[in-house]
Amino acid sequence: MYDLSQFKIKENPVILGVESSCDETACAVLRGREILSESIISSADVHSLYGGVVPEIASRAHTDAVDEAAKRALAAAGITPEEVDAVAVTYGAGLLGALLVGLSFAKAFAHAKNIPLIAVNHIRGHMAAAYLDKPDLKPPFITLLASGGHTAILHTKTELEAEVLGGTTDDAAGEAFDKVARVLGLPYPGGPNVQRLAESGAGTIEFPSALVKHGDGRTFSYSGLKTAVINYMHTAEQRGAKVNAADVAQSFQRAAIDPLVKKTVEFALEKGVQTVTAGGGVVANDYLRKQLTNACLSAGITLILPEKKHCTDNAAMIASEGLNQYMAGNFAPLSVNAKAQIPLK
Ligand code: KG4
Ligand code: ZN
Repeated sequence: MYDLSQFKIKENPVILGVESSCDETACAVLRGREILSESIISSADVHSLYGGVVPEIASRAHTDAVDEAAKRALAAAGITPEEVDAVAVTYGAGLLGALLVGLSFAKAFAHAKNIPLIAVNHIRGHMAAAYLDKPDLKPPFITLLASGGHTAILHTKTELEAEVLGGTTDDAAGEAFDKVARVLGLPYPGGPNVQRLAESGAGTIEFPSALVKHGDGRTFSYSGLKTAVINYMHTAEQRGAKVNAADVAQSFQRAAIDPLVKKTVEFALEKGVQTVTAGGGVVANDYLRKQLTNACLSAGITLILPEKKHCTDNAAMIASEGLNQYMAGNFAPLSVNAKAQIPLK
């Protein structure tokens, strides 16, 4: 019988992390917060042929890859399946079919080895990436979260509790990067391509800031900014005017990122919190990293910025959040199901 009440909590457990919410099949092995190994098998190349992630293809790719990704991670860590103390897996948010592959694999592993299964919220995984960079990191800190599905600034109070201080009411920052990429004719994945193009441009075009004007000072809108870029392109096309795409990319990037950086530091000062962390795919953006580093330095705030590979989807962050849940004894039954959406609390 798989009985949750039998499991004891160990110090520095070996946790196998599994992530399959989108187009990366990723596994990682952590001992406590120490990363022993990471493996990632991506299907992004196939999706780029279609201009975006095709859910059915992603699910099939995860099915092909998950066993291999886990084998590689365990082998590279020098850990046998018997030495794994718990399995942490993303159960949402994400593409349902994709999530079910990783979740089913993790359930089978936990059942076979009779070890705890930990169901991890993907977004909380992004927020837990910072611990990988600084294993002795302790809350409180302010977290800037900017991914393809979420954009928010949070007050992380404990390993388990975070309060949303501000965020988007519509699109996420990453979504805006992807849509602007499409309008500029750049291939999937959009974000890194917009960044690359922006590097040779100037921020000369006045796009509306992502921070809502005349709002409460904590509400962002990326849909408005995206629409402004689309309108700019259409107007230029109608007039037969030549558009400098690099300038559009640079101006958009500034309008998208500057207010996020500014508000993050302002919230830290307002709350009297000494440390800022960040997570999510958009945090892999070099311009954001530079601006956030400078802003924290000027304000005398410590910045814990995860490596780029831990900002985009990965399994080490899932195992890291898994450790938070493990220490609290939050184990999942084998009946736990995947969820396409989980509200950000
Ligand atoms: O966190 P993530 O890998 O997946 C989600 O949980 O959504 O974030 C993916 C998002 C995409 O929208 C992608 O375009 C964006 O992160 N992204 C970037 C960069 N790298 C990834 N956006 C801007 N600049 C980048 N360098
Ligand atoms: Zn993600």
